[in-house]
Parts: sequence; C-alpha cells; structure tokens
Amino acid sequence: MKNIIIAPSILSADFANLEKEILKIEKAGADWVHVDVMDGRFVPNITIGAPVVKSIRKITKMLFDVHLMIVEPIKFVKDFAAAGSDFITVHTEACENNLDETIDLIKSFGVKAGISIKPKTPVSVIEKILHKVDLVLIMTVEPGFGGQSFIMEALPKISEVRELIAKEKLDHIHIEVDGGINSETAKLAVSAGANALVAGNYVYKAENTALTIASLRKLVL
Ligand code: DX5
Ligand code: ZN
Repeated sequence: MKNIIIAPSILSADFANLEKEILKIEKAGADWVHVDVMDGRFVPNITIGAPVVKSIRKITKMLFDVHLMIVEPIKFVKDFAAAGSDFITVHTEACENNLDETIDLIKSFGVKAGISIKPKTPVSVIEKILHKVDLVLIMTVEPGFGGQSFIMEALPKISEVRELIAKEKLDHIHIEVDGGINSETAKLAVSAGANALVAGNYVYKAENTALTIASLRKLVL
C-alpha cells in the first residue's frame, strides 16, 4: 500500500481553540498541518498570516504545509519561512512573471517549495518548473472556502502530473490534492496518482477523528 500523507486543514478548526484542535489531529494520526493563508485579493476571503503560523509552530512537530492563496506571494515568503513553515506553496496564477524567482526564494530559506494550480489552470503551466519543486498542489475546488464539493473535472490533471513526474524521473515530488476530500473522493484522487490529501471539513467535522483519518488512508473503509 502506498504511504498516503494526510494534511488536515485548520481552516475548518475552531479558531478559539487552535492548540487543542492541532493536538487533536496529531493524536489522531495526521502527518502534516495544512495552513490556508488567504488575503481577500487572490481569493474572496481573509484568514491568517505569518504571526499565527509562528505561534502555532510551538504546539506540534508535525510538518507545516502552508498554502498561500495571496497575490504577490514573493513579498511574504520570508515571513512565512521565518515563522517555521516546512512547505510553502504558491499559486502559479499569482506569480505570472516571477514564478521561478519565488520558488528560488522559498528554497533559499531551506523550505520545501510547492506550486498550486486552480481547477481551470492547465498542467502545462507547471511543466517547465516541475524539476525545481518539491510539491504540486492540485486544487479540486475553487480556492477561497472550506466545505465545497470536489470538482471531478480536475481529476485527470492529477494523472497528468503523475505521468510528467514519471517521465522526468522526479518521483520525490509530492502530488497533493485540496478541496472536497472525503473517503470517496480520496480514493479517486489516490488512484489518479495523488499521495498527499488535504482535508478540512471531513476531518474537523468528524465524530471520530482517528477513524476518519484512517479512512482517508484506506486503512479502514
Ligand atoms: C480552499 C482551501 C482548502 C480547504 C479545504 O481554498 O485551500 O484547504 O480548507 O477544505 P475542505 O476539505 O472542507 O474542502
Ligand atoms: Zn489549502
């Protein structure tokens, strides 16, 4: 069985009890903490910034998978790196002229670099930069909000990235999916080639967090 990474999104957590909510997913077997950063410009919603990442960094040793849904992410990479991010993922749509530079900057801080594409963005836009990144995040909802339904049309893009990675012998790159993940859509995403799953509502609204995480890993079905 493939080793599937589960990255619950704290966007669906109770922000009044963030420490408890992070320890809850750690105890339940999560691998990474997915942090959704939104600026009200790239997406129509505002969430949290680097100071919050810095504060919650002390709570856990789980890897911090920081998803920047912001315009001009290059301006904030330094802050999020200093706050203790392990992965920083930027959107190709947000760095049309400086994608290379942004990825290089992330890596210059010793942080792993990710690139993300929205549901309507084709895989071709990441082809040239693929060899430089550690993670490709394929959005399976329009970014901006938790709790939306998985967009099936995004599924072939996962296989497309998996093929590209195989062709270029870049198998160390994670393929992560984000949006509308539950035990059913997780199965589809993993069969298409994903190895890391972000899940907000499915994990945080569950009665039994450990069983829910295990069901995403297919340990329990
Ligand atoms: C959406 C965010 C996602 C979101 C996932 O813009 O990037 O990480 O929180 O939430 P669910 O799993 O509830 O769709
Ligand atoms: Zn996300």
